[in-house]
Amino acid sequence: MILVTGGAGFIGANFVLDWLADNDEPLINLDKLTYAGNRSNLASADGNERHLFVHGDIGDPHLTASLLAQYQPRAVINFAAESHVDRSIHGPEDFIQTNVVGTFHLLETTRAYWSALPAAARQAFRFLHVSTDEVYGSLTATAPAFTEEHRYQPNSPYSASKAASDHLVRAYHHTYGLPVLTTNCSNNYGPFHFPEKLIPLLIVNALAGKSLPVYGDGRQIRDWLYVKDHCSAIRRVLAAGRPGETYNVGGNNEKPNIEIVHAVCSLLDELRPRIDGKPYREQITYVADRPGHDRRYAIDARKIEAELGWQPAHSFARGIRLTVEWYLANQQWVKDVQSGAYRDWLAKNYSQRQA
Ligand code: NAD
Ligand code: DAU
Repeated sequence: MILVTGGAGFIGANFVLDWLADNDEPLINLDKLTYAGNRSNLASADGNERHLFVHGDIGDPHLTASLLAQYQPRAVINFAAESHVDRSIHGPEDFIQTNVVGTFHLLETTRAYWSALPAAARQAFRFLHVSTDEVYGSLTATAPAFTEEHRYQPNSPYSASKAASDHLVRAYHHTYGLPVLTTNCSNNYGPFHFPEKLIPLLIVNALAGKSLPVYGDGRQIRDWLYVKDHCSAIRRVLAAGRPGETYNVGGNNEKPNIEIVHAVCSLLDELRPRIDGKPYREQITYVADRPGHDRRYAIDARKIEAELGWQPAHSFARGIRLTVEWYLANQQWVKDVQSGAYRDWLAKNYSQRQA
């Protein structure tokens, strides 16, 4: 079996559900259930004997050591993290605790477990660390896309904490020989995306008749990838990636934020028109920029394509339609995640941004 951490969050839940659907191997899903972790994301796996959910922290070495000893997984996939850049600006400490200290503890307990395995199992074992393109910093408009050789230049507390975790993972390979793999992926979107992030926030706000907040001039560029394609890349790297290597994962799909906003508005105009017949674009509001906002991310995914034969299966047009349709069909999920703490976050992040 495999041990997945953070499998109740956005990408982790998609990964777990796809894994259970695609093969027979059981998995343990260790998640702290922070505001971003949601058991209902995994509702379709309820009763599935191959899914063992454990509520706990990757930073708890006693818990992770006992899970490793009891279940003897052949791999650990580490999704668990604090993941929202704006939250890291308001309160970086949780990011250091989970992304840096938590990953360190998980590496330590994994190393102890792995070192004691019989030779064949030790050789076959993998620790796959799920990371981000944000560790590379910001690109100018004409610079080539990030390759795996690009220097680390993180600009937010979030990306700095992920960079630190990537360095620890690398060091555990270099120093101890732990068979690690690291993936650095661009912006994901799709089902179960928590509505603090741009795309789900747009959908949820649009339907509620609220403003669609665009930071700064809206010309920042991200490279968008449908979440199921990220999950397939992780499965491919786990199966065939070379220990010690990093693999950049992206959608070859660079778009300025304002184009994303327009795409979501157009789909909603088609699928759920406003009662007054006006376009959702009328709800767009330009607001104060994110401090230290990275201007452009772009992934050069030639390594994972050439070495492992991975490519995204969804075009942006297809992926964004599936995403908007998912949110329209899952309004109860949307209601359930909009807790008091969520509303407090919106007030904190948006009330002081001047139009
Ligand atoms: P998310 O915030 O939606 O989910 C994170 C999950 O981790 C939640 O279920 C949360 O409860 C859990 N968690 C947090 N702290 C924990 C801890 N200490 N112990 C155990 N579980 C804990 O995040 P996501 O968007 O699904 O991202 C998953 C991973 O992928 C992260 O490592 C992130 O850096 C990386 N990533 C995300 C994107 C993206 O676009 N969302 C892109 C590239 C990489
Ligand atoms: O690149 C990978 C990263 O993508 C992941 O590592 C992060 O975990 C993930 O959150 C995401 O980071 P971003 O900061 O790019 O995503 P976010 O959805 O927060 O913002 C996307 C862009 O939209 C960014 O340029 C900021 C802008 N934005 C965001 C929000 C929430 C707005 O203009 N308005 C908003 O209200």
